[in-house]
Amino acid sequence: MNKEYHYKLSLSKSLESNPDQIFCYWKGRVALYTALKAIGVKEKDEVILPAFTCVVVPNAIIYLGARPVYVDIDKESLNTTLSNIQAATTVKTKCILIQNTFGLSSEVDEIVAFAKSKGIVTIEDCTHGFGGTNQNRPNGVRSDFAFFSTQWNKPFSTGVGGFLLVNNLDYLKSVNEVNKLLIKPGFKKSIILKILISFKKAFLGDRTYWFFLKLYRFLSKMGLVVGSSSGSEISSTVMDDNYFMGAAKVQFSQGLSALIHLDELMLLRKKNAAIYSSFLQSNGKIYVKEIFNENHSFLKYPILIKDRVSFLAKAEKASVQLGDWFLSPIHPVESEFEKWFLDPENFPNAAYVSKHVLNLPTEIENPEKVLAFLTQNINDIL
Ligand SMILES: Cc1ncc(COP(=O)(O)O)c(C=O)c1O
Repeated sequence: MNKEYHYKLSLSKSLESNPDQIFCYWKGRVALYTALKAIGVKEKDEVILPAFTCVVVPNAIIYLGARPVYVDIDKESLNTTLSNIQAATTVKTKCILIQNTFGLSSEVDEIVAFAKSKGIVTIEDCTHGFGGTNQNRPNGVRSDFAFFSTQWNKPFSTGVGGFLLVNNLDYLKSVNEVNKLLIKPGFKKSIILKILISFKKAFLGDRTYWFFLKLYRFLSKMGLVVGSSSGSEISSTVMDDNYFMGAAKVQFSQGLSALIHLDELMLLRKKNAAIYSSFLQSNGKIYVKEIFNENHSFLKYPILIKDRVSFLAKAEKASVQLGDWFLSPIHPVESEFEKWFLDPENFPNAAYVSKHVLNLPTEIENPEKVLAFLTQNINDIL
């Protein structure tokens, strides 16, 4: 059995599916683009998505000439709601994206039922949600498609990477057709990825986190390493020549070894999330309510901060690993939103959350240092 098949088999076991419903790519965004293309999304079509996401999501829509139609999020679930989606739906709506922000689920069943009643296709953005469940079923199995990311900070990591789950078998043929156009990752890309993965394992820790995070973001923006996003993805809506790229062998082997630890990691994430919730609740701060907690993967634990910039500077000084997702409604873009057809003022909840949110790490063995830091700076937390 080759590694690719073995990897897909492992994934399919967690996703109530078969290996032939799973397709692997260089990045999760490529899986999204494939699904949109397989559906036939084209010029003048509209695709509904949350106004609290990563810029590569609207990019995939715009690359096909279609129009992203944003909807506001709920301040507590950090996800879109059925009523906001209903209000944004028009005769041009071809597809609705349902995101599991930080692993927290939204009203997936309700949104899928609404979409079906209108003949609209659904895609779950499970880039944060692999391994978690919603109403006792794995994230990603309810919509026509789901896409997942295995990039550095995701539920399990292959460095960069992602895959598509096709639940609606009517689309299998068109996905296979679209996949014929995939570019193969070259030797250089694969080897750089392999080196980065080994480097991260060997050198990333509390004391080096901030230095390497900044260095990595800078180098990937310059196109000097295999990056999470290239400079052009953040500054323009024009598709890079080498965007539509398939998976590399190194991603299958890395995925297989990372998956072995997924259950352990999920338990650790949930344990830490419960500790953070209880700390925040007992200090009268905003915390993730239990109704949003049913076996969520808690990729990150969101907190809201009065002045994020100064809080981040303090965290860096104290060597505490905080995340900054999503620091804008289309992270990490902070200006020229009109290029992405977005006016943040129309989405007050997303604008508010993206101004104040930071993420606590959930995959650490001991959250004591984080808790001590939060205690010291308790007045900065909302
Ligand atoms: C919500 C969301 N969707 C999609 C993506 C894209 O995933 P990838 O980086 O694997 O392309 C990300 C990346 O972080 C994300 O946060």
